[in-house]
Amino acid sequence: MAIHFNHTILLARDSKASADFLADMLGLPAPRRWGPFYMVTTDNDANLDYMDTEGEIVRQHYAFLVGDGEFEAIFNRIRERDLRYWADPGQRKPSETNDHDSGRGVYFEDPNGHLVEIITRPYGSAAGIRELGAKGGEPGADYGQPGGNIPERRGAAAPLISVGAAA
Ligand SMILES: [Fe+2]
Repeated sequence: MAIHFNHTILLARDSKASADFLADMLGLPAPRRWGPFYMVTTDNDANLDYMDTEGEIVRQHYAFLVGDGEFEAIFNRIRERDLRYWADPGQRKPSETNDHDSGRGVYFEDPNGHLVEIITRPYGSAAGIRELGAKGGEPGADYGQPGGNIPERRGAAAPLISVGAAA
């Protein structure tokens, strides 16, 4: 049997409102209720299952590959709702988008602070762009470099993994 990503769980203060937000923003069908979850289902049948918690929410990162038309529609919603958005996962480039892999990309937050990303090209899909020193630098440099822009290292939330000698 082939392996397909099926679901992940997102902790939320208000699972219904959060699921409604994500489905609205992405232009997906209304969330379904199942057990303790409000489930947002993508076009490749992966589920993002929001679940209420009163405990700590460690922010997570979720990326969606979207079509060019969908990107434009979602980006319009971001601006219509006056949401903050960034070109990078470290949120150091506000009110900008990126063109990694010769596509378009942007980051915004859900109501819980989870970092949502939309991209029109998968990471590493543009030939040559991953070469260090290529025009625009190395897109992946935003992630995983010492002192880099891993969102979990920023803000008040406790890191998921302990990183020694963080800058
Ligand atoms: Fe990402």
